[in-house]
Amino acid sequence: MNEVLLEGRSLRLALPDLARKPVFGTAPMKTILDDIQFTLARGATLGVIGESGSGKSTLARVLTWLLPPQQGDVLFEGRSVRDFGAAELLAYRARMQLVFQDPMSSLNPRRRVGASITQPLRALGRCKSKADEARRAGELLERVGLAAHLAQRWPHELSGGQRQRVGIARALALEPAALIADEVTSGLDVSAQARIVALLDELRRDTGLALIFISHDLSLVRSLCDEILILRQGKVVERGPATELFALPQQAYTRELLDAIPLPVPEPGWLDQEEAAGAQSEATGQPVPSPA
Ligand SMILES: Nc1ncnc2c1ncn2[C@@H]1O[C@H](COP(=O)(O)OP(=O)(O)O)[C@@H](O)[C@H]1O
Ligand SMILES: [Mg+2]
Repeated sequence: MNEVLLEGRSLRLALPDLARKPVFGTAPMKTILDDIQFTLARGATLGVIGESGSGKSTLARVLTWLLPPQQGDVLFEGRSVRDFGAAELLAYRARMQLVFQDPMSSLNPRRRVGASITQPLRALGRCKSKADEARRAGELLERVGLAAHLAQRWPHELSGGQRQRVGIARALALEPAALIADEVTSGLDVSAQARIVALLDELRRDTGLALIFISHDLSLVRSLCDEILILRQGKVVERGPATELFALPQQAYTRELLDAIPLPVPEPGWLDQEEAAGAQSEATGQPVPSPA
């Protein structure tokens, strides 16, 4: 399990700073990512934490080479992504799937859920027939804890949590080695957030999928991630095993992020009941029964 899947080496990216663009001439460059280093073992979990604007989403785009960095390199299974040709880059992106915050913007509103999920398979000619496609959609929905019949629904008919699961199901279609989940729980209520985190953890345990979990919320990362990288203004200010980082944060910034975690819920048990009802409703698309 210790084999390195992905490695970031001295990644550095600067982009034109449009806020400081003069009327004439080109905008000055602004450093967005500065000397980022990390390794991700096969099946491991890396949390990337930082306040808004710290460079988390940019890092996700650099890692998938949607935004090639000016310096440094990404190594996938020991091979330099910088050396990849167009076909290898496509294959690499199939192995390293990106899941975004807002699935409503990534799901085509005029496509039924099932067709959205199997779209990557169709694009690569991996569905033999309509029946094969329907079977694959159903399987993928069930893998993310949803009922197979939701394949017939439109995106707007689903809840935020269900849509996020659909986004994850589509990312799983090509059987990636890793998921990069960028703020996938933002905009969901606390209980739906916890269920998405539990789903990712389950997928990791069952399939050996590696995870890069990007969030501004340390409390979510705590239960999920082995290793944590704290980003601030494009630099790694702290890194280490989650257990050490939570026990003994070295940086004032990390302590601030930790202090932002809400206190635990006082009455244990209530969340479990709500969770069970919520999970049931999310899976089947039936409304939560009101308490008698
Ligand atoms: N295309 C771009 N051009 C210039 N600056 C950008 C661009 N995209 C992001 N930035 C800047 O990069 C920084 C990091 O952004 P981002 O990666 O989105 O942060 P996060 O995801 O942590 O909130 C921000 O200061 C943002 O303004
Ligand atoms: Mg972001």
